[in-house]
Amino acid sequence: MDVHHEDKDMRARFDAYVADEGKVEPKDWMPDGYRKTLVRQISQHAHSEIIGMQPEGNWISRAPSLRRKMILIAKVQDEAGHGLYLYSAAETLGVTRDEMDEALLSGKAKYSSIFNYPTLNWADAVIIGWLVDGAAITNQIPLCRCSFGPYGRAMVRVCKEEAFHQRQGYEGMMVLAKGTPEQKAMAQDALNRWWWPAIKMFGPPDSDSPHSDQNTLWKIKRFSNDELRQKYLDMVVKQANALGLTIPDPDLKFDEDTGHWVSGPMDWDEFWAVVKGNGPCNRQRMKHRQKAHDDGLWVREAAVAFAEKQAKRNNQQKAA
Ligand code: 3HC
Repeated sequence: MDVHHEDKDMRARFDAYVADEGKVEPKDWMPDGYRKTLVRQISQHAHSEIIGMQPEGNWISRAPSLRRKMILIAKVQDEAGHGLYLYSAAETLGVTRDEMDEALLSGKAKYSSIFNYPTLNWADAVIIGWLVDGAAITNQIPLCRCSFGPYGRAMVRVCKEEAFHQRQGYEGMMVLAKGTPEQKAMAQDALNRWWWPAIKMFGPPDSDSPHSDQNTLWKIKRFSNDELRQKYLDMVVKQANALGLTIPDPDLKFDEDTGHWVSGPMDWDEFWAVVKGNGPCNRQRMKHRQKAHDDGLWVREAAVAFAEKQAKRNNQQKAA
């Protein structure tokens, strides 16, 4: 049989299956492109969760109260858990954890642009909960319906935890924004610095998003980058108003006809510079990640040695 013919038929059947909302499981046949784009997206998503622990982790030892410290520790631990679910989901597609780690550490794989900005003071740690986790949920709720089963299922739990993260961030911002004039100034300063990076988290404009068309057809993506950015803008402008903070966009306006907020121009050169490794903290983030990887070598070796010992013991017991 002509293999290319068979592939074409399989591909057509696959496309029809996902178009009809069928869920794809790891052992099912899938086109190479589907597998590749999922490994790319899920592993980048996992790397973002892991690198994303750094800017907030920076404030654990300096949190302003025991209560804030406990909340922050729990949140940063949750992010580690999200990274692990996601690496596991990617592994079901045939890539190993070592390969994913190598791709991150060598700079081949990306992680979210947002985690390359510094957390200079406590308000920065708090605003990540409000703005960054708020953007993460906006992007990830539709991913719960992703056609690839393991990714969608991981997202259900991740979104529940992200909802708590977003609320604790908003509550923390409320305390600052309604606090002393100095606290309010800190909250506004953090918003001034984090606004544009958060808006750009959703990725390049649709006209400049090479993966969108195919991944929408494959029901990996349910909304385009610009559609999600719009949903987020409409939600966050209201929240900023309730906090009494000013969004640092002089061109931001409400369009009465469409009922949507319209953003001013976004600096995409700045975004691509960050994505390509030249943001304020890219080098620091990667150096820190490499050190953690090196320091963890003995743990990985011990885990492998223990697994081998256990397997040997099990085999001996079976043989006896
Ligand atoms: N940062 C870095 N790179 C980005 C980016 C961003 N904010 N947005 C897009 N890119 C990259 C893409 O990865 C792609 O590069 P590649 O071809 O080398 O992989 C390129 O820019 C073109 O973008 P596309 O729009 O064509 O790419 P996608 O269709 O994959 O859409 C996405 C980008 C919307 C980020 C999508 O990949 C996605 O939904 N990913 C899953 C969610 C995710 O990774 N979120 C990251 C934040 S996680 C987080 O915030 C954790 C929380 O706990 C705070």
